[in-house]
This record gives sequence, structure tokens and C-alpha cells, in this order.
Amino acid sequence: MLDLHCHLLPTIDDGAKDLETSIKMLAIAQKNNTKAIVATPHVIEGEQFPAWEQIVESCHLLKQEGRKFGLEIPIYPGGEVAIHRDILDLVKGPGPYCINSGRYMLVELPAMEIPGFTEDFFFSLQARGITPILAHPERHPVLAKDPEIIVEWIRRGVLTQVNGASIIGRMGERPMKMTELLLSRNMVHCIGSDAHSDRHRNPDLTKAAEKIVALIGLEKARQVLTSNSQKIIDSQDVEIFEIQQPHKKAGIFQKLLNKIGM
Ligand SMILES: [Fe+2]
Repeated sequence: MLDLHCHLLPTIDDGAKDLETSIKMLAIAQKNNTKAIVATPHVIEGEQFPAWEQIVESCHLLKQEGRKFGLEIPIYPGGEVAIHRDILDLVKGPGPYCINSGRYMLVELPAMEIPGFTEDFFFSLQARGITPILAHPERHPVLAKDPEIIVEWIRRGVLTQVNGASIIGRMGERPMKMTELLLSRNMVHCIGSDAHSDRHRNPDLTKAAEKIVALIGLEKARQVLTSNSQKIIDSQDVEIFEIQQPHKKAGIFQKLLNKIGM
């Protein structure tokens, strides 16, 4: 599998606190069968704005260091870009702050709200030839209440990435239920660990991968875990499955009929 969201680079954001931690994270990923990692440090206008060249150089240096420890996993540059109008002045097209300098960008919403300019932001990126990938929508309280918002965004070309920790319930019941819903409705396009260290939030995706296979079957799981992610890294088109309608809950009358065997 491939990890499209990981705070792996040392000292650049609130992820790996030093090079030793980055190496430990790489070792965990390699041991647990992760075949490539996209390094996605936070890119937040006015707060944390690493230069693109710094991210690229840090990936390069970490790869070199990793090889000294037998760690050969490819590391691609990227960013977790917090939506902000001013980003659009900087991003003119595929390249900087996009995954592997290509045409996909991992985009994050504020934790508790959906700003009024969110759709404008998405569509402005698309007009520049960049496909937004929404980071961990399963964690967002507004989207959890109304997943149809995500349906509409996907129909307009936005992709989604969910977190391994959410899938296996490590972030609580609500994000887990939300990932199950999104997976069952074909609304997940790739996954990431969103790892920040070698400890609690680490890059091991094994259990998440097992659960995804159990939930949606091997063929679709391959798309989500590997082939879509590789296409994103390579700036190719991702295969999109038709979004399924939600299962309707049985009403009181239906439950009564079921109870009496009708
Ligand atoms: Fe993240």
C-alpha cells in the first residue's frame, strides 16, 4: 500500500521532531509493507509556510539518510495545504505544493467549520489544472452530519483521502463510522496514515488495510490502497466508482413487519 498523507519530514511542522524520529517512522512503514510515502507537512497561510524547495530538499536528504539504514521506500514531496484564498496567488498550476510536483493537491479544511469560499477554492484549483484531494473528511463534524456535501464535491471532481487511524477506530467511534459509510458508498479514493511520529500516530497502515479489504473486497481495496495512490503520484487519472446511495434505515412500520415475520 501507499501512504499519501504523512508528517514524516524532520522539524518542518508538528510531525517528526528530529531526523531520528523520521528514520524510525520510515522503518515502521517499510516493516509494514508500505511501498511509498508522500511527505505532507502542514502548509498554513500566515502560520506555517515552508518553502517548496525546502520540502523537496528535505525529502531528498531523508531518502539518503534512510538508505544508510536499509530503508529504500520512495518519499515524494507534497503538502497538507490549509484552504486559504491567498494560497491561490501562489499556486498558478501543477507543481509546487502538489503531490510529487504534479497535478493533485492534498487540501485540509479548518477543524470545525466549512468556510464559505471552500467550493470557490476547489474550483479555482481545478481551473488551474489541479485536482484537490480532501484530507480526512471523516474527521470533520459538519461533513459527518451531512455527507451529501462530500457527494456533491466528488461529483464536481474533488477526491478524498481518509486516515488509517480513523478506519480502525483509533480516533473514536464517529470517524470510524464515517469512514465505513464513505468506503461503502465508493467515496474514498486513497488513504494516508497522517502519522506525526513513531509512537501513537505512526505510519503503520496494516490493520487499516485489512479492514478496508474486509469492508469493500480485494479489488476495490487495491484501488484505494495502491493503484489510485500510484496514479496520483504519477499525475494520471484516478478510477472513480459510481457513488452508492445510502442504505435506508427501516422505519417503525417495517421493523414491526420484520418482527412478525412479514
Ligand atoms: Fe495531516
